[in-house]
Amino acid sequence: MMKLNAKIILGLVAAVTLVLGTGCGKKEEQIKGIKIGVSLYDAHDTFIAELMNEFNNDITEEANKQGITISVETEDSEGSQAKQNSAVQRLIEQKACDILCVNLVDRTNPTAIIDAAQQHDIPVIFFNRELVEGDLERWNKLYYVGADARQSGIYEGELAAEAFLENPSYDKNGDGVIQYVMFEGEAGHQDSIVRTETSVGTLMEKKLKVDKLSSVIANWNRAQASSKMSTLIEEFGDEIELVLANNDDMALGVIDAYNSAHIMNSKRPVIVGIDGTNDGKNAVKAGDMYGTVYNDKEGQAKAMIDLITALAVKKDTSEIQFTNGRYIRLPYVKISQQDMH
Ligand code: GAL
Repeated sequence: MMKLNAKIILGLVAAVTLVLGTGCGKKEEQIKGIKIGVSLYDAHDTFIAELMNEFNNDITEEANKQGITISVETEDSEGSQAKQNSAVQRLIEQKACDILCVNLVDRTNPTAIIDAAQQHDIPVIFFNRELVEGDLERWNKLYYVGADARQSGIYEGELAAEAFLENPSYDKNGDGVIQYVMFEGEAGHQDSIVRTETSVGTLMEKKLKVDKLSSVIANWNRAQASSKMSTLIEEFGDEIELVLANNDDMALGVIDAYNSAHIMNSKRPVIVGIDGTNDGKNAVKAGDMYGTVYNDKEGQAKAMIDLITALAVKKDTSEIQFTNGRYIRLPYVKISQQDMH
């Protein structure tokens, strides 16, 4: 299903390109069409694939609304910054874009992309993987669309806290301390760092006592999380009372491991994720996951499209509501089982 989505996205060099012979960045009085170059860090990442599905659906609507043609060319960097740099270079040199949307592979290394874009006067909307502020400030046509990682960690911590406060039996050994395991996304990713810290911090603020049994990195990935969880189940067995995962795919991997170990739901820990992906929400609905935090892919896709239209069609960003500077951040939403019925 995920692979299929990615294929659809990559196959979608949408619509007809009818750009009045405009080169990248050249201004026209009457815009008849725009070309968008999109570069993804990894098209197989579930959240990114779902976000791009929204984006590609909404862009068609936007083209109709604006009465213009919009073409989208999407590149998958497959986790390689070098690959991303050359794809972006190609999009720019072949005049295949009026605007770029970049989901950085290495969020600390956007220099080659910024330099190339600035040289050809192509605005860049970075999204989901947040570059450092100093880099965004290097040129006034660089933007960021994403969310507030801190809020997602706080919401995840609040969901976990609510679980234990409302159901004392989740403290399986009754010692008044929550024995937990943390599943982290990629090392160095803003969401991994901040979600890890704030989810546990929130539990402690709520005066719950916690004891970390283990913390593992599973790179947002379901299969990696499943295999690491199988090892943890062998090591800690019934001792684990809570699993905090930096995203839903890893929480689903944890559930896969419990399924493979044939451990029934009542014997499992409280499992909380973040993203509210389709599978994540289904797991909450089924009672396999206690809750998740919705990473507003609809809002983020819409914000990117509004910004694209403002920059490339209207040539005026005065109606865009920036959170601060040239940042747009969409709020997260808590999802627990009650919300799914
Ligand atoms: C996060 C999301 C993860 C993963 C990551 C990729 O915001 O929660 O699931 O998609 O972005 O950068």
